[in-house]
Amino acid sequence: MHLLILLTMTNHPKAIWFFGLSGSGKSTLANKLVTRMFDNGQNSFLLDGDIIRTGINNNLGFSREDRKENVRRIAEMCKILLQVDVIPIVAAITPYESDRLMIQNILGKDNIILMHVSCPLEECEKRDPKGLYKKARKGEIPNFTGVSDVFELPKLNHLIIETNEKSIKNCLDKALEHLEESKQEITNRI
Ligand code: ADX
Repeated sequence: MHLLILLTMTNHPKAIWFFGLSGSGKSTLANKLVTRMFDNGQNSFLLDGDIIRTGINNNLGFSREDRKENVRRIAEMCKILLQVDVIPIVAAITPYESDRLMIQNILGKDNIILMHVSCPLEECEKRDPKGLYKKARKGEIPNFTGVSDVFELPKLNHLIIETNEKSIKNCLDKALEHLEESKQEITNRI
């Protein structure tokens, strides 16, 4: 009976939240992780800021308050998914430290793993997959993260995945290793 409780506690699903600059590789990593989890027989669901903003969050812009509301709603969606044992995988810039703390509070620290998808701004601008940095530099997009709005580096000790130095496969492996380690940490704490 005790063993059963222990197993349930250690294997409980957690939200996985990739944050970082636009163009850093969050969506790519998140998509790969969804596929990998599917292959492993795990149910996950992708919550991508870009997609969520076309629907449920299409009334929000990029002011500090709107970004906060954007990630607050995403965190609440994570909570619902966790209740039905689906692993939420989020890709959202989440540029402010206070909002990263807020989502940890909404979900509970043990129910979320934040990973910083890190890539130098110059490299993100070089990649510019949607041509948004170019527009932002011309002043056509206000409050653009990294250009005319801040991305606050995390003070808390999240895993950092550096996408400019490693292949996508290496980055995915690093994320998966971290997920395994965090399961282990909880087991040790129990
Ligand atoms: S967040 O800051 O609220 O977490 P989110 O991840 O949902 O942002 O959305 C970011 C995406 O919106 C970017 O990848 C980009 O495609 C688009 N975007 C449009 N305007 C902006 C802007 N001002 N700053 C950042 N991203 C923007």
